[in-house]
Amino acid sequence: MSKVTVLNHSLLTHKLTLLRDKNTSVKDFRDLVYEIGKLIAYEATRELPLDEALVETPICETKGGLLKKQPVLVPILRAGLGMVEPFLEIIPAAKVGHIGLERDHDTHLPKEYYCKLPTDIAEREVIVLDPMLATGGSASAAIEFIKKRGAKNIRFACTIAAPEGVEVLKKDHPDVDVFVGVLDECLNENAYIVPGLGDAGDRLFGTL
Ligand code: PRP
Ligand code: URA
Repeated sequence: MSKVTVLNHSLLTHKLTLLRDKNTSVKDFRDLVYEIGKLIAYEATRELPLDEALVETPICETKGGLLKKQPVLVPILRAGLGMVEPFLEIIPAAKVGHIGLERDHDTHLPKEYYCKLPTDIAEREVIVLDPMLATGGSASAAIEFIKKRGAKNIRFACTIAAPEGVEVLKKDHPDVDVFVGVLDECLNENAYIVPGLGDAGDRLFGTL
């Protein structure tokens, strides 16, 4: 059963309020995605598995822990790219894969148009990144494609989620833990998150 963690932090609420504002500039939007990404990264990496390690301090030897293997970050193109740098600030030696999805015009099913992942992904913790979890279609399909390439330990991190998307992930991928900045109210008739922030990719890259 997936564990769903919704962050609760005054700084996050402050930054999300600015991020949602339709008058926020592309530059400020980008900066805020970055700042919020760091807060989410801290939470999403809290329980990465460690190997016990001994360390010699100037005073004595003591037990510590070192990451088993560096994790792999996998942003979902495009908007997921905005979360890569803040995660790398927290885990600078992480590997980075990429996955791109688009909806097939006829079937409306997500189709993979790009996927480049480390070959040893099966041995690493994978953190899939996307600022928005709306219907859950993109995240669920991305996770499915990543699993087909051998990944076994996957978590998903996003900034804003709709309850509908969280339910889809819980049903399709009960083995995947989900880290959410904020859980919004619902989806509208165009599958946009309400209140949300509009189209994350367009606001991040200025393609409105
Ligand atoms: C956005 C967002 C997610 C997806 C969420 O990407 O970044 O990937 O929508 O919606 P879903 O949960 O209903 O699948 P979009 O498809 O707009 O592509 P873009 O990042 O290239 O703008
Ligand atoms: N994708 C977005 O970028 N925003 C939404 O609200 C839903 C899907």
